[in-house]
Amino acid sequence: MRVLYVASEAVPFAKTGGLADVVGALPKFVRRLGNDAIVLIPRYRGVKSRRVILPSLTIPLGSSLKFCSIHEGSPVDEVRFFLVEYPDFYDRDELYRHAGRDYPDNAERFALLSLAALEFAKRAPLPPDVIHCSDWQTALVPVYLKTLYRGDAFFENTKTLLTIHNLAYQGVFPRSTMARLGLPAELFNMEQLEFYGNINLLKAGIVFANKLSTVSERYSQEIRTPEFGCGLEGVLQKRAADLTGILNGVDYTQWNPEQDPWLVSNYSVKDLQGKQQCKMELLNQFGIDNSLDRPLIGIISRMADQKGFDLLQAVAGTMVEDGFSMVVLGTGDERYTRFFLALQERYPAYVAAKIGYDEWLAHKIEGGADLLLMPSRFEPCGLNQIYSLKYGTVPLVRATGGLDDTIQDYSDSSTGTGFKFDGYSPEALLGTARRALEVYRMPARWLELVRNGMQRDFSWSRSAQRYVELYQSLA
Ligand code: ADP
Ligand code: GLC
Repeated sequence: MRVLYVASEAVPFAKTGGLADVVGALPKFVRRLGNDAIVLIPRYRGVKSRRVILPSLTIPLGSSLKFCSIHEGSPVDEVRFFLVEYPDFYDRDELYRHAGRDYPDNAERFALLSLAALEFAKRAPLPPDVIHCSDWQTALVPVYLKTLYRGDAFFENTKTLLTIHNLAYQGVFPRSTMARLGLPAELFNMEQLEFYGNINLLKAGIVFANKLSTVSERYSQEIRTPEFGCGLEGVLQKRAADLTGILNGVDYTQWNPEQDPWLVSNYSVKDLQGKQQCKMELLNQFGIDNSLDRPLIGIISRMADQKGFDLLQAVAGTMVEDGFSMVVLGTGDERYTRFFLALQERYPAYVAAKIGYDEWLAHKIEGGADLLLMPSRFEPCGLNQIYSLKYGTVPLVRATGGLDDTIQDYSDSSTGTGFKFDGYSPEALLGTARRALEVYRMPARWLELVRNGMQRDFSWSRSAQRYVELYQSLA
């Protein structure tokens, strides 16, 4: 199979969240299964090019012509990464937004990426069997294929898969944007692009893609309901037969305490001494109380409503007074960053918050914390809780989406791997935190829990195999 991945971010080139981890890792596992996999992303500011592949690629976008070029970045495990260069659109401070506001030309920026993918594909001797798109930013690929490119013999046998990593971001723009994106006006109807008077690019992709997937089984069910469907539950119900849930995997070459170069001391399930050292280092680095009897909660997150920190706002003080310490790393909505900074000010001996994006620190927190907290309102998959299992950092999560699929509650001395709560309420969070505290104070039990998690295997091999089966069913 020849698979072209088109996405708005990929590790190690550009990342704001888990999408980048997935697009950076999945292709190499698909390749290992004997397929041809290449990736195309925008060349954002600072993304290194190794060479120019196509010096000039002219792309008609609506009534204007965009003169792009295609570069190649350094391959990752033999997977080739191609970069669309168009500085007007991509050479900016951030990927999607600046100073808290989305870039006003995001529709054009990502429509260009989608069209560039098709034009780039056409320069290869053979067409891709599957174009695998992700989220609203590349959801126009299936639409363009079935409209502007309908009748193009080159793509006669090319199929599309759209993976929904997060239904809450849909790419909604005014109707007037359609012409600028070159989208035929007749697509503006309720069955296709229209969404309450605007156009909705994710909806468009859901309607036009040959198959759909999302990143956990549970989320694939949830998004068909009004509670999680973000207004698209009806469209998703219609396409239910073509919608699959495939759990994200982990790239254990990147996330493994046995060989993580960022940890002060490596450790494994057989020898956990290094984990204590990681905790001490983290506590000392932040200058917070280093008595080991306080369980340390780690948080590494985008600060967005999705992540459930409004629950924590209500009970964080009580949790600290109960005996927890916290190290927080994140960026995003000020509502939450301010809350964490205020918490740090109130409990400087027990709480440290770093507002920012810091990959190095993310690894240190995975290594040094006792618990990882993800009280998400919804969570399509979630990666940090899966990483933390491997790091012996016990997840405390809300039972939703991928969090529910990946974490088993520790009820007494079972094979559980973490702590889960159901209802979206501060009381449920606090009750579960207290349950965790009790177990933490029984070292033998805690060790059992840690070891259970470390032995779980969420490597990409199994999920990559499922994607390949899906590609084959398309072709
Ligand atoms: P989402 O994609 O919704 O943000 P995931 O759990 O799937 O959630 O993935 C988040 C990814 O981003 C993880 O790899 C996590 O380590 C990383 N991450 C999130 N916030 C930060 C941050 N402030 N600094 C470093 N890494 C972060
Ligand atoms: C999204 C989701 C997250 C998921 C990630 C990768 O950003 O919020 O739950 O893990 O995509 O699929």
